[in-house]
Amino acid sequence: MSKSSVTADTPLSFADPAVQRCPFSSYDRLRDDRPVYHDPLTGNYVLTRYEDVRKALLNVKALRNRTGLNSTRSDPTANRVFEEKGWLPIDTLVSNDPPDHRVYRTLVDKVFTPTRVGALEPRIEEIINELIDAFIDAPEIDFLQAFAVRLPMYVIAEQLGVPREHMDRFKLWSDVSVESVSPVLTSQREVEIAEILTEMQRYLAAEIEHVRETPNDTLISHLANTETDGRLLEMRELLSIIHQLLVAGNETTTTTLASGMKLFIEQPELADEIRRDPTRAKPFVEETLRTLSPIQALFRRVAEDVEIAGVTIPAGSLVEVRYGAANRDPKQYAEPAKVDLDRSNAASHLAFGAGPHLCIGNQLARGELRLAFQILTRRLTNFRATRGDDSYSWMTSYIAHGPDQLWMRFDRR
Ligand code: HEM
Repeated sequence: MSKSSVTADTPLSFADPAVQRCPFSSYDRLRDDRPVYHDPLTGNYVLTRYEDVRKALLNVKALRNRTGLNSTRSDPTANRVFEEKGWLPIDTLVSNDPPDHRVYRTLVDKVFTPTRVGALEPRIEEIINELIDAFIDAPEIDFLQAFAVRLPMYVIAEQLGVPREHMDRFKLWSDVSVESVSPVLTSQREVEIAEILTEMQRYLAAEIEHVRETPNDTLISHLANTETDGRLLEMRELLSIIHQLLVAGNETTTTTLASGMKLFIEQPELADEIRRDPTRAKPFVEETLRTLSPIQALFRRVAEDVEIAGVTIPAGSLVEVRYGAANRDPKQYAEPAKVDLDRSNAASHLAFGAGPHLCIGNQLARGELRLAFQILTRRLTNFRATRGDDSYSWMTSYIAHGPDQLWMRFDRR
């Protein structure tokens, strides 16, 4: 047996909620001796080194995004719910592989251009200021509910032509979509999630029909009315793409905002530095994403036996690409846990992935985060937690990481 394989007497597992809430010391335990860790509870192969994760993301021939986890469910009852009440999910972007992936990615690249994303910045600033106005006189806020949950949702919802009064449903749809990628779901939960997601499909389908009849300048209208591969997409395909745009950016941007605010509370000199020189928000965003990657891991299915760091991973296995571990690899980043605004290679982090599936929303997310940290530090100061250890709680998730509650106060400037 290779030195990188582990036996069942090793208790460490990423299915353990305590490890999920704080995975960093586990990554450090594994990276040197067991960089390809055979998780005894899930049977997955876990990658923790920067080079291995990056190479795995580029090796789309052997390591496939079509894992069977994130579209058609293993439970036939869940699939029946989709067929009867909505549309059976189809693999388009994140759960698809080249060459099919290319058709869909080309369409989204055509619509989600850097120019269009850049043009959103004035509107993003307005939304940030509106949100701050709404809580600025409160004696205490939960930063998540008051700000971090709302900003990305409002931005993408406007682009998808969705009114604010439906935000609570969107939050739920976003949350269950993230949950649905977990490899440890019960059948009952799969069915519950299918019920919730078909409600979302019916909602979005009505909006697609509307913008096909009456096109406008929203993202959903451009997606519905732009041809790819010489044709307009079918409802099932469009629903899949729009669903991903809607949910992929919400929780991820939310938790990065909250993680950044936690850093401001713990290291006020970071907020002072951005207040003094707003261009420093840019490296701060990269360092927050690197040290506290909001997606810690995603999965790949092994299509053909593959060797990584001397370990042969058999076809059919599930590999966990742990972006969050790669981003704290000391071989890539000196003092990896430290937020260093002068780090020259900060933007080389893998928090947005790499290769053909590189996050399509990375520019939008980076823009939202930069503007948010700039405006928050410009308008507010003296960020402090208000409830001691109870100020924060951490989400328990197989793939996501970050605070899901942050009680705090601040002073106006
Ligand atoms: C801080 C915020 C974000 C983080 C950390 C993040 C992270 C990621 C990662 C790691 C991937 C690669 C998946 C893979 O390797 O298989 C990805 C893909 C994707 N992201 Fe993001 N994302 C963020 C924001 C957004 C936003 C704002 C949007 C859209 C509005 C978005 C839409 C997508 C889509 C559609 C894909 C799939 C791309 C493809 O498979 O071609 N993301 N994201």
